[in-house]
Amino acid sequence: MSVLISAKEIHKVYNVSAGEVSALRGISYDFEEKGFYAIVGRSGSGKSTFLHILGGLDKPTSGSVFIEGEDVCKLSDEKRSVFRRRHMGFVFQQYNLLDEYDVRNNICMPLKLDKRKPDENFYREVIGMLGLEGKTKKYPSELSGGRTAEGCYCQVGHIKTEAYYCGRAHGESG
Ligand SMILES: Nc1ncnc2c1ncn2[C@@H]1O[C@H](COP(=O)(O)OP(=O)(O)OP(=O)(O)O)[C@@H](O)[C@H]1O
Ligand SMILES: [Mg+2]
Repeated sequence: MSVLISAKEIHKVYNVSAGEVSALRGISYDFEEKGFYAIVGRSGSGKSTFLHILGGLDKPTSGSVFIEGEDVCKLSDEKRSVFRRRHMGFVFQQYNLLDEYDVRNNICMPLKLDKRKPDENFYREVIGMLGLEGKTKKYPSELSGGRTAEGCYCQVGHIKTEAYYCGRAHGESG
C-alpha cells in the first residue's frame, strides 16, 4: 500500500507565560492509504497537537507533513485552508458545528465554502448510514451529544476527502 501522509521530524513548542512547552519532540510516521490509525496516550501527551499538524490546522515549530507530495507546512494560511477543505475532514474534540446553521447546512458547509454542490445521492447515503434522517433541519443546540458527533461524522464523511481525522471518537478518552 502507498503512503498517503508522511510526518517527518515534527517538533512543536508552545510559548506560554511560564516558558516553553515542548508538546512534540521529533515525530516521524508514514500513514498508509486506506489505513485506520488510533493515536493513544495520556492526557496532555500531544495527540491533538499532532492531529492538528497532520490535518494542516496548525504548523509545527519544525518538521514537515507531506500529503500527496505537498509539504502542507510550507503552504500559506490561505492555501492551507483550501487544501484542507478539499483533501481533509476533521472531527474536532469539541465537535465545532456552527450553532446558527441546521444540520444539513453544517454538513454541506465545507462544499459550500468551496462553491461546490453536494452529491445528493451520496449525502442521503451518509445521512442514512448514521441514522440522521429526520434530524437534518435541527440546529446543533437541539441535538443530543451523540447526534452532534454523528453530524460531524456526516460533515467529514460526505465530502469524499482523502484523509479523516478525529480528535476523539465519540467523546471517549484518547
Ligand atoms: N495552544 C496551546 N498553547 C499552549 N500550550 C498548549 C496549547 N495546546 C496544547 N498545549 C500543551 O501541549 C501539550 C499537549 O497538548 P494536547 O492538547 O496536544 O494533548 P492531548 O494528548 O490531546 O490531551 P487530551 O487527551 O487531554 O486531549 C500539553 O502540555 C498542553 O498543555
Ligand atoms: Mg486532545
